Amino acid sequence: MKISYLSILFMLLNTFTFAQDGHDLWLYRYNPNPVKILSSHHSVILATAKQELTQGWKGNPNATVKFVLKKDKSLAADGFTINSNVITANTDKGILYGVFDLLRRQNTGETISDIKENPSYQVRILNHWDNPDGSVERGYAGNSIFWRNNDVNVTENDLKLWKEYARANASIGINAAVLNNVNASPLILTPEYLQRVKAIAAQLRPYGIKTYLSVKFSSPALLGKLKTSDPLNPEVIRWWNEKVKKIYTVIPDFGGFLVKASSEGQPGPQDFGRTHADGANMLADAVKPYGGIIMWRAFVYSPHDMDRAKQAYNEFMPLDGKFRSNVIVQVKNGPIDFQPREPFSPLFGAMKKNAVMPEFQITQEYLGHSVYLVYLSTMWEECLKADTYQAGKGSTVAKVTDGSVFKQALTAIAGVSNIGLDTNWTGHQFGQANWYAFGRLAWNNNLSSEQIADEWLKLTFYNSLSIAGKEKKQEWESKFLAPVKQMMMDSREAAVNYMTPLGLHHIMAANEHYGPGPWWGPKGVRADWTPLYYHKAGEDGVGFDRTHKGSDAVSQYHEPLAGQYNDPKTCPEELLLWFHHIPWNYQMKSGKTLWNELCLHYDKGVSQVRNFQKVWDEVEPYVDQTRFTEVQRKLRKQATNAILWKDACLLYFQKFSHMPIPYDLERPV
Ligand code: GCU
Repeated sequence: MKISYLSILFMLLNTFTFAQDGHDLWLYRYNPNPVKILSSHHSVILATAKQELTQGWKGNPNATVKFVLKKDKSLAADGFTINSNVITANTDKGILYGVFDLLRRQNTGETISDIKENPSYQVRILNHWDNPDGSVERGYAGNSIFWRNNDVNVTENDLKLWKEYARANASIGINAAVLNNVNASPLILTPEYLQRVKAIAAQLRPYGIKTYLSVKFSSPALLGKLKTSDPLNPEVIRWWNEKVKKIYTVIPDFGGFLVKASSEGQPGPQDFGRTHADGANMLADAVKPYGGIIMWRAFVYSPHDMDRAKQAYNEFMPLDGKFRSNVIVQVKNGPIDFQPREPFSPLFGAMKKNAVMPEFQITQEYLGHSVYLVYLSTMWEECLKADTYQAGKGSTVAKVTDGSVFKQALTAIAGVSNIGLDTNWTGHQFGQANWYAFGRLAWNNNLSSEQIADEWLKLTFYNSLSIAGKEKKQEWESKFLAPVKQMMMDSREAAVNYMTPLGLHHIMAANEHYGPGPWWGPKGVRADWTPLYYHKAGEDGVGFDRTHKGSDAVSQYHEPLAGQYNDPKTCPEELLLWFHHIPWNYQMKSGKTLWNELCLHYDKGVSQVRNFQKVWDEVEPYVDQTRFTEVQRKLRKQATNAILWKDACLLYFQKFSHMPIPYDLERPV
């Protein structure tokens, strides 16, 4: 490798001056210029906005920036305009988002003129799957930042961390957080826990972030010692009303509840012969007087149905129109469960009368935990831009959920957080990019993943170098930014290739969901929790027949998708084995057999990761040692695991295909 004099300079700067562990996220600001701020109004949030602008201003020294609050009908509650150093908004939150927008543009070197921004969704929320004992379900970045060993005492360190968390979220437009696991402990509603929630809310509020909680549906029985938790029982209704009243006394701007009910063993209205709507509406009525909302999850499936992919649609479609206006149905991006690739959930656009919100998973449950470098933005973009055809061509998932196709009163989008106590917050340095990307897409569901990666890399890596000068910047852009951005853009497809190519899904090792396990299926385990249920490999082929002849899940999609998915010739090959059971010698579009194509994909995935290792090794001069070494080590582990995936899956499937691995590909070892 040729090392230029400039790169040596970079290296020295890194080593001596700017060593980092990633804790500052994309927010590191060096050496701001002085700035004057004029504001005719005062509020806690405006004070935050002023402080942020003062700390991060990169515009002309001694410039004057004006905050203007005035009624502008073309602006949403959080929207703003920026025009010659004047930030205008309807609300103080709008000003805060304007400030962060301006700083982002300054710090990424964008030209700034005539900016107008309105968020795509009203509620842009993180879901933390954090338990009172401090553990985090599907968390890979250490313990919870909110809860610790069932200890509700609040320390100075807690307050500091919650503030940093709030600031990072506000900087990317996130305005809400659910503080505890969807598999909720009833403890969260006890007075002691509510005091801690109050303390957290107090740190989040100055950054415009509202606090929400997950609740267990059987809380009236578990906490209130009632005989039932039936949502139509007057005592149960009274219990919830009182509980909600208490919550609002403690946290006056409380956002509402997230509910996982009658799902994966969680209690719910169905335990009492009631519907999801009965359950959701009872809670909705309780929070309504205070302006609260209910996010009711549609992640439901039972072992009795022949196809799990169909169940949420079957259960929720008959309820369309039956939910209160302050209920929003929260739907995972795909019909199964956050797989590396799924088609979008057929509920998007199909539920037309009630509001529906997408749920994305930022934490990498099925995508290599905090070991793999996988930039998830491209996966979410694929979902948001997928056309549901539900109101004609162009009814993308983005548009049928953000209010532009159906005039829903409430719009929202949720991301299951990847944040923990790890000093770099997300376990993997590049996990920060997924947190960042979720916020940016929640703000603007039309952004491209490439732009988001570009922004994130500049803010995270260039700004931390603290270097000025056009020449150095150009070198950084060609030697670091371009190759690393490309690596990010390719990373999700690489993971799909070496894990679940061509529409395969849910074949990871049981329970932990890390590493391959297509063979796993011991007697007595629920069939729909074993990979065998999903890949259905046999002598006759592989894949789940969801056509009219099979489970008919295709019919849950609007034409022309239903027809396209139903026919293997028109079904996109990336989803082929999701919708079809295909013989091993089936001829693919490339002319190769399915078996050979499968081998090729697994092999390609491995080469892609090896290439990421090379890319990263070459950017060493431009990254501080801590972050360089961390990412290098993780990539090494990822490459080893990718080989494991390839070898395990090919050797397993070969038992059925009885076909050789093409001679020009790497043989399993
Ligand atoms: C997945 C995940 C669970 C989680 C569930 C949910 O099944 O493995 O840990 O509770 O999703 O989203 O509710």
